[in-house]
Amino acid sequence: MNMMLKKQFYENTATESKLPDADGIRQTVGEPFLENSRISCREIDVFYGQKAAINKVSLDIGSNEVIAMIGPSGCGKSTFLRCLNRMNDTIDSCRVTGSILLDGEDINRTDVDVVLLRARVGMVFQKPNPFPKSIWENVAYGPKIHGLAPKKNDLDEIVETSLRRAGLWDEVKDRLDELGIGLSGGQQQRLCIARTIAVSPEVILMDEPCSALDPIATAKIEDLISGLREKFTIIIVTHSMQQASRISQRTAYFHLGNLVEVSTTRQLFTNPRHQLTEDYITGRFG
Ligand SMILES: Nc1ncnc2c1ncn2[C@@H]1O[C@H](COP(=O)(O)OP(=O)(O)OP(=O)(O)O)[C@@H](O)[C@H]1O
Ligand SMILES: [Mg+2]
Repeated sequence: MNMMLKKQFYENTATESKLPDADGIRQTVGEPFLENSRISCREIDVFYGQKAAINKVSLDIGSNEVIAMIGPSGCGKSTFLRCLNRMNDTIDSCRVTGSILLDGEDINRTDVDVVLLRARVGMVFQKPNPFPKSIWENVAYGPKIHGLAPKKNDLDEIVETSLRRAGLWDEVKDRLDELGIGLSGGQQQRLCIARTIAVSPEVILMDEPCSALDPIATAKIEDLISGLREKFTIIIVTHSMQQASRISQRTAYFHLGNLVEVSTTRQLFTNPRHQLTEDYITGRFG
């Protein structure tokens, strides 16, 4: 970016609550669009009251990809992620505009069943949050309420398959009736992943899923994510550039509510196209 634009950008953002209009900032560089997208976002704006948090973000997300979202604290990563399964609906002051299609269907239509949407687009949070129920119940709950398993045997099968996929089965198979919250933090996070995949989602949103975990538990979750890509689309917010490099195929860089760049992960970290991306990955700010 040329220096004048950059200066104008910073001056704008410093003095106005509305996000800047400067050309070259709002225009995402790289490859935000795909031929076959699973999720297709166009011109997403998000406001909390009068304050803009996401500014005209357009981005496609493909099947069987892990896409990482990175950027400085407060740049809107979680806000954007929450648009994708309408979790922002739960925040009174929050208003989302623009179009988000999941397999071609507009998820923001008023007649969309949000409970069903959140099963199709599941979410794993920063802090593991198992229900205060048994390990078995934690995983069986979703399939039960969505009527995915008419018989108890079917439920047992879903529980086992989901725990296996989440890499937790061997550690818990003999204690399925114990409380989920009695597991270690890393195990709890894998339990939450098992709970999410038990309802056969298409997309899994993960908001810093490893930030409360030690390096060994983190490595387990990272291995798991790489394996899950065969079946699911995964969108992960992370503050760890190493993590983004290890597990994602594409990376999106957000800055002050703008989607600055979307590139293959390799390109973004070795040869970023935007000055702001380069400043961030080289630690000049953020
Ligand atoms: N519930 C809310 N009400 C009002 N403003 C909010 C709310 N949630 C987020 N914001 C604001 O929206 C902007 C984006 O926040 P968001 O949490 O999406 O950032 P983030 O990139 O996920 O940051 P972090 O890396 O710290 O998690 C920030 O300015 C934040 O203060
Ligand atoms: Mg966040």
